[in-house]
Amino acid sequence: MATSKSATNDPDVLVLGAGAAGLMCALEAGKRGRRVLVLEKAKSIGEKIRISGGGRCNFTNLHTGPENFLSENPHFCRSALSRFSPQDFVSMIDEAGIPWHEKKLGQLFCTPRGGARLVVEMLRSACEATGNVSFQCNIEVSRVETDSRGFRILANGQPLLGSSLVIATGGPSIPQIGATGFGYEVAEQFKLEVIRPRPALVPLTLSKEKSTAVRKLSGVSLPVLVSCHQGQFREAMLFTHRGLSGPAILQISSYWEPGDDIHLDLLPDRQIQDLLAQSRDQTPKRSLSRVLEAYIPKRLAAEITAEVGHSGTVSQISTQTRRALQTRIHDWTLRPSGTEGFRTAEVTRGGVDTQELSSKTMEAKKQPGLYFIGEVVDVTGHLGGFNFQWAWASGYAAGQSA
Ligand code: FDA
Repeated sequence: MATSKSATNDPDVLVLGAGAAGLMCALEAGKRGRRVLVLEKAKSIGEKIRISGGGRCNFTNLHTGPENFLSENPHFCRSALSRFSPQDFVSMIDEAGIPWHEKKLGQLFCTPRGGARLVVEMLRSACEATGNVSFQCNIEVSRVETDSRGFRILANGQPLLGSSLVIATGGPSIPQIGATGFGYEVAEQFKLEVIRPRPALVPLTLSKEKSTAVRKLSGVSLPVLVSCHQGQFREAMLFTHRGLSGPAILQISSYWEPGDDIHLDLLPDRQIQDLLAQSRDQTPKRSLSRVLEAYIPKRLAAEITAEVGHSGTVSQISTQTRRALQTRIHDWTLRPSGTEGFRTAEVTRGGVDTQELSSKTMEAKKQPGLYFIGEVVDVTGHLGGFNFQWAWASGYAAGQSA
């Protein structure tokens, strides 16, 4: 307790933000004997962890590699990811006795509903067990300055000093739970470049005209292959009343820029021409919509049939209609009007330019003692536990040095 008090009154390391990255950094710095004070704007620590994965927290992905991240410098994340692996986090979870399971594609989730809370508790007690880490919530940091001893900040109007300052304030996604762009302001104050932040892992919206047509399909879900630029994902897509969502769309949204088209294959495992030929031979009197219904959801089959304007049997389909079906099913090209924005984005793409940071320690090259970790940095993971793995790994890296 005495040590904890001195961490509050006389910290070595000030960590701004008690999210995944900040907590991991505090734990590691605390283990090294550094007195750490974590300041959190929200009323409690680890809010995003608590709501993640529908309360089950997809805490890592077994297949984590640099190819699962977007960044202006795709190699930057290598160093931190290699020093704190998914297995390292699994060991912590196992030691805390938290049950988990692999859902699919290497995605590890806590098993109990509400298990995400156990992850927050695990991190809190590990930090407290070092005897060197203190937390203060409901703290608004209004100013950051350098001082002869390091950094001086104003927290709820009170000055605090620390030799190291770690910015772990995340990105502006989901502002309703305390997310801010504060980290970018600090970066700019110290003349560090910031790559334009934009919403990622977010539903895409359609123009009024398109969404009126698509609204009829709201609630329909199907597996698709979606692509845009270098991104390509085979996952489920969901039609919504505003546009498109589901894992496939969230993934591709990280690659999409305004004005871009996305390409959708609505039947990625079959060829529509083969299915039509087969049906012409075996069930020539069947209607086109009934043929399609066997492979794609009924409402979508009806919509596509209406679009290509074929009300007859499968044996009466013209070459022109066959071509139209080929395009509509295997290369449906859509130009989204936008995204649902930071309000619903799971993460923020862009952030503090990695050229400004050491990939080994996450320290700013221009400002010794100043660190940026987690989502505030221009490293953005795919959906599936990669973003937490980046938060743990970058927090771990800074925690060895701050
Ligand atoms: P994070 O946002 O977690 O923490 C930043 C903290 O800083 C916040 O607590 C905030 O209140 C605080 N803060 C902000 N400004 C401050 C200031 N000025 N002073 C003090 N504190 C300040 N990822 C994944 O891998 N698996 C998953 O299952 C999910 N699920 C998921 C669900 C939902 C709904 C969302 C929104 C996001 C996810 N994610 C996810 C993404 C994941 O939550 C995200 O990548 C990490 O939480 C980022 O961790 P950070 O610590 O960098 O930021």
